[in-house]
Amino acid sequence: MTLVVEGRLQDSVLENEWHPVYISSDLVEKPVGVIVMGERVSIYRSKKGVHAFRDLCIHRGAMLSEGYVVDDCLVCPYHGWKYDNAGKCVSIPAQSKDMKIPERAKAEVYHCQEKYGIIWVCLGEPTIELPSLEEFEDLTRKPLVCGPYDVKAAGTRVVENFTDFAHLMYVHGGLLGHPDYAELPDFSITKEKDRIFTSEVPIYQPVAHSGSEAREGTTYVYVKEVFRPMSARLSKRDADTGQTLWILLTVLPLSEKECKVFMVVSRNYGFEVSDEDFIKFQDTVFQQDAWIIETQKPELLPLDLQAELNHKVDILSVAYRRWLKELGVTIGTV
Ligand code: FES
Ligand SMILES: [Fe+2]
Repeated sequence: MTLVVEGRLQDSVLENEWHPVYISSDLVEKPVGVIVMGERVSIYRSKKGVHAFRDLCIHRGAMLSEGYVVDDCLVCPYHGWKYDNAGKCVSIPAQSKDMKIPERAKAEVYHCQEKYGIIWVCLGEPTIELPSLEEFEDLTRKPLVCGPYDVKAAGTRVVENFTDFAHLMYVHGGLLGHPDYAELPDFSITKEKDRIFTSEVPIYQPVAHSGSEAREGTTYVYVKEVFRPMSARLSKRDADTGQTLWILLTVLPLSEKECKVFMVVSRNYGFEVSDEDFIKFQDTVFQQDAWIIETQKPELLPLDLQAELNHKVDILSVAYRRWLKELGVTIGTV
């Protein structure tokens, strides 16, 4: 069980991770409140970019995310104190102009950036930068942000489900797999310092992806990879045409057993198909995943490999659990 101090879940690893918090294009002039590991965080946009503060005004504890942006500063809605992008209070309307603003009048600032169409926040000091993932940054591949999806389950369970192949024929039966083609070929995994990935795994799928030229069942070649405790990605290629779909899945832990899931989907085909169709397809697939993940017990991912029955097809999931243990991730694990 992860310790909670003043509402924030204590996890020395995830504290220093970049967490996805909001879809970039949805943050316009109004500040927004989000939850990161139980902590309330306000995010807002200035001319210089995006910023994140602890969602608490030092004066009387009001939520800064309920305030507004004036002259690129965040203004508290209670008594109008105005904070600049560095969190320094630059105006206290109730005091005379020649009075000095107290040194302690500051907002707590968190690291904040935009990448792959998502706003990311780190509550501590980032241990590692977000990688350059060309498939989600190259606009010619039309990266689309899907979700975020609210799931009543641990983020670790969601990431693990993303690493899983053997559910495709059942949870997504008739769509991403078929029970008659459930047998998986042997595949291997490779572990590097900050990534674990599979070899190519062919999977027969009854329904081709939106926009694909394949009409009947197609065998797609999958490669899956976990690259952060809460982030994974996959590619899915039609070997005959080279048409490929890439998916990035990244999870924001709200609490031990609740999370928000962001996905970015890119492609090198089907540009004439509407973005809505791709997003709708992803929504359907993810609802199927969420439904099963929310039934799992224990809710927290067991890092003791004897606790559940690991099968040979679970090699990526086992490696993921080992990695979480090595790193010392506590949120969402037991
Ligand atoms: S509580 Fe924010 S200005 Fe008073
Ligand atoms: Fe799934």
